[in-house]
Amino acid sequence: MARRVAHSIEYGGITLPALVHSEDSVRYAHRSFQVQDSDVFNITYPKSGTTWMKEILTLIHSNGDPTRSRSLPCWERVPWIEQITAVKYLENQTCPRLITSHLPAAIFPESFFTSQAKAIYTVRDPKDVCVSLFYYTKMASFLEHEEDFGEFIRKFVSGEVLFGSWFDHVKSWLAYKDQANFLLLTYDELLKDLRGSVLRICQFLGKDLDVPAVDSVVENASFEVMKGNKMVNYSLVPEDIMNQKISPFLRKGISGDWKNHFTSEQSAAFHHLYQEKMKDAGIRFPWDEL
Ligand code: A3P
Repeated sequence: MARRVAHSIEYGGITLPALVHSEDSVRYAHRSFQVQDSDVFNITYPKSGTTWMKEILTLIHSNGDPTRSRSLPCWERVPWIEQITAVKYLENQTCPRLITSHLPAAIFPESFFTSQAKAIYTVRDPKDVCVSLFYYTKMASFLEHEEDFGEFIRKFVSGEVLFGSWFDHVKSWLAYKDQANFLLLTYDELLKDLRGSVLRICQFLGKDLDVPAVDSVVENASFEVMKGNKMVNYSLVPEDIMNQKISPFLRKGISGDWKNHFTSEQSAAFHHLYQEKMKDAGIRFPWDEL
């Protein structure tokens, strides 16, 4: 196996993996990128359902036709605005452009905030994000990995992980939750009711899909179908960068896997910290209760 070399860059107080980011690429996204009113953004903290939303948006955009989602890698169809390849991939986008970002609001493209562009923010139970990220850092050679899960939790809650603190990220975006061009979704509700969530997204985007088209979105964005689609399961990425034998990119796709990883002490300590950090968030999530 290749030796782990986890280079990173810093921008706006957060750390991003240097494999696909540079200070210039993030500054370009933040300061120079010109948002169009027709743009649709897929915004997440990592491991919160980014890839899932890429698939859902691609399929809705193509009225349920899976041809595009089966023939073009997901990172080209719904590219990250902060990555080095953003300009290249966005050049080939037709209107509306579907764009992904892991950036917190403070360093998000400035022109977004005076535009009519739409943004979907997907948030996931942070304990599940923590577990998912733990496995991801294990299989992705470009990320620093911590063998001890207890120590990883400590790093996660103190924001010593890529894209910084989950709490800061989520709160930075919750500030926009009541705006008409902003849709807040949870990973957990996508999981519970994918069809209902797809319909909500369609309504938000002003897309009127007929029943067979909605059926196709739901079918092709299912965990099983995505796992078998090499354009979205990351099997196109060489093994020395992402080793799926260590942990698959589409790993379990469930809610509550934290129960298999956190001890009751770790869970109680996390909950205590969560309550403290989120007390001013102005919203309650299903996972707020222990
Ligand atoms: P797990 O590691 O818990 O399985 P991201 O795309 O933001 O990196 O998030 C990856 C997480 O989303 C992984 O979680 C992955 O399995 C899950 N995921 C991706 N597609 C999914 C789907 N169709 N249904 C359920 N979970 C999905």
